[in-house]
Amino acid sequence: MISERAYAVEPWTVRETSLDLDVLAQSESVFALSNGHVGWRGNLDEGEPHGLPGSYLNGVHEVHPLPYAEAGYGYPESGQTVINVTNGKVLRLLVDDEPFDLRYGRLVSHERVLDLRRGVLERTCEWTSPAGSTVRVRSTRLVSLTQRAVAAVAYEVEAVGARSRVVIQSELVANESLPDSDGDPRAAVALKSPLEQEDDFASGHRLRLVHRTRRSGLRVAVAADHVVDGPERTTTHSESGIDVARLTVTSVLEPGQTLRVEKLVAHGWSGVRSLPAMADQVDAALAAAAHDGWEGLLADQRATLDDFWARADVEVEGDEEIQQAVRFALFHVFQAGARAEGRAIPAKGLTGSGYDGHAFWDTEMFVLPVLTHTAPAAVAEALRWRYHTLDEARERAAQLGLGGAAFPWRTIAGPEGSAYWPAGTAAFHVNADIADAVVRYVEATGDTAFEREAGVELLVETARLWRSLGHHDSHGVFHLDGVTGPDEYSAVADDNTYTNLMARQNLLAAADTVERHPREAERLGVDEEESAAWRDAAEAMHVPYNDELGVHEQHAGFTRYQRWDFAATRADQYPLLLHFPYFDLYRKQVVKQADLVLAMYTCDELFDDEQTARNFAYYEPLTVRDSSLSACCQAVIAAQAGHLGLALDYTREAALMDLHDLEHNTRDGLHIASLAGTWMALVAGFGGLRRDRERLKFAPRLPERLRRLAFNLEFRGRRLRVDIGADKASYSLLDGPPLSLRHHGEALTVSADEPAVRPIPAAPRRTVPHQPEHRAPNGG
Ligand code: BGC
Repeated sequence: MISERAYAVEPWTVRETSLDLDVLAQSESVFALSNGHVGWRGNLDEGEPHGLPGSYLNGVHEVHPLPYAEAGYGYPESGQTVINVTNGKVLRLLVDDEPFDLRYGRLVSHERVLDLRRGVLERTCEWTSPAGSTVRVRSTRLVSLTQRAVAAVAYEVEAVGARSRVVIQSELVANESLPDSDGDPRAAVALKSPLEQEDDFASGHRLRLVHRTRRSGLRVAVAADHVVDGPERTTTHSESGIDVARLTVTSVLEPGQTLRVEKLVAHGWSGVRSLPAMADQVDAALAAAAHDGWEGLLADQRATLDDFWARADVEVEGDEEIQQAVRFALFHVFQAGARAEGRAIPAKGLTGSGYDGHAFWDTEMFVLPVLTHTAPAAVAEALRWRYHTLDEARERAAQLGLGGAAFPWRTIAGPEGSAYWPAGTAAFHVNADIADAVVRYVEATGDTAFEREAGVELLVETARLWRSLGHHDSHGVFHLDGVTGPDEYSAVADDNTYTNLMARQNLLAAADTVERHPREAERLGVDEEESAAWRDAAEAMHVPYNDELGVHEQHAGFTRYQRWDFAATRADQYPLLLHFPYFDLYRKQVVKQADLVLAMYTCDELFDDEQTARNFAYYEPLTVRDSSLSACCQAVIAAQAGHLGLALDYTREAALMDLHDLEHNTRDGLHIASLAGTWMALVAGFGGLRRDRERLKFAPRLPERLRRLAFNLEFRGRRLRVDIGADKASYSLLDGPPLSLRHHGEALTVSADEPAVRPIPAAPRRTVPHQPEHRAPNGG
């Protein structure tokens, strides 16, 4: 586990001041760079030692069989796994005949800094070889946010104290050997040497390798070009073979002299393009990068991030760790989606191979809400990816005997990848989550072109799914039986409240949208009868409630179940799924992650404050947070219920999930949804942001410890700034025409020259609910 002191607490950087090989894999995730298309883990430049080597291209995966002990209709037959593609970041160093390897010799100093404003990972170190030669190494690495295919490294070696002969080997390496995984052995086989060589090239300072995945048949091309700057008599030599292409740079450095190599790397992949076309594609991308050069790439990176931060920054006074963590979180969320362009945003982004590189509902319910208000173009792209997989989703629905489209619970390229149907197939809420992200995006941007091109169809096909999945009972009440909600410790249950309420919104939004877009409705064959049926189902949607307890049921009958025996559950028996059978979890009152509590955030207009507080008090002692998606949701509702200290604890848990490695699995990749949840906890929790169709609603309130919280939001082409103090909040418009919003229920209009300042009402006093034993928030 990463110790609390691993990274210095600074507002705009994540600085590691010494190298701890025991947590190398974790820091590789923390220091990963990505643009949503290319992802480079923060591996050391020389490739070794490593925790988990990782270079990813969004969408490049291998397939593997998913055999089942017991057969069943509709089980997915093959799984997809992200693969480690050709690694372009390797720069090996030889100092006077000895490899620069930090496990040997003496590491005088080692520092790495992730700079959140410049978008680079910098490294400086001083090392003395076992034979006594000392060098200083400086490297700066970026994955370009402006040139989607491109990543680059500037690597510099300086001789210290004495003359040194140095050799830098800049490489492209395919089929790197990976540490043994403790995951699915079938996936592990697919990952072992996943690439078959097709072409290699080396000439002058240029290198190129083209490979193909064995089963999925995807062609991957990676090329590099170099600028070498060293003393006279520096020589270079290039060569290539099956899985390696290499430029070797040799020089003799006097003390104080440096040898510098700037390496530009271009990536491309395709399931259809020919080998010559792929080779040309990466060569062209390299030419474009070389045209701007290293300095140009750096400048563009900074400009892109300046623009992002002007729209997205969150300032926190009173908790420096949260300040750093929320910027770290926003940086990684932005990296995950910035240039994904028509591809998924996986649960780990492109920072590691955890969850096999799959995307889940995490994208639509956690990541996209943040990007909607900070980088909306990325949201349209992510939803276009769903749109492009509609045919597969329609086929899946048909296979299941349902209408419309059934999107996969987990996938890379579109097909369902979950081999466990109770928490995969039955988790139909993902469809309403996608619909919600569409509505949220269109409301926030007014992008009617997107709505027409992709939004209507996504809403219509998901509405059709709900209509066919549910039924009206003899009293006309509409039910969705046998589904799994967000809480994976309940499965195949009737009328999951979250699912029902989200499906209700989905049905209503579809009916509204076809009215606005009659031509698209006609094209999709929606007639008045069909949209009326959607409204009927929505209006008759069952919402299970226990009158005696005065609380909503997570699903019908949930509150009648036996309570989990928390007192008898030891701290080391969490997460429960690894220590108890699902069979037992499913029939008891125990909640893995926010479910009803999430519904109260996403469908807030259906719960008043009193009901919200009562429900929260009921579910809090049952919720064990065995998923990192939970803390941020609990933060939001705790804040609404007036439990501001508890909300802060949950905010810290979400925020520090990866910087402190709270779940001991940051090595597999970052928890992108939890990172996005940091923003959610602050903006929707302490800022009280909710949607009200065309309007934003705020209900700000800070916990004692936070002196100030300020954030920018993009909404309908304007930038709104919200600045919250202990007893007043101010709203100002940085640009655009006047905007109406609500502050604690009061309607306001803000214009560019007239900020609105309003007092903050005191929080209601309520008894703070407790968590199950051993499950108090882990605030780091
Ligand atoms: C959670 C899911 C989530 C998945 C990926 C699981 O542990 O229960 O809700 O989608 O992780 O983050």
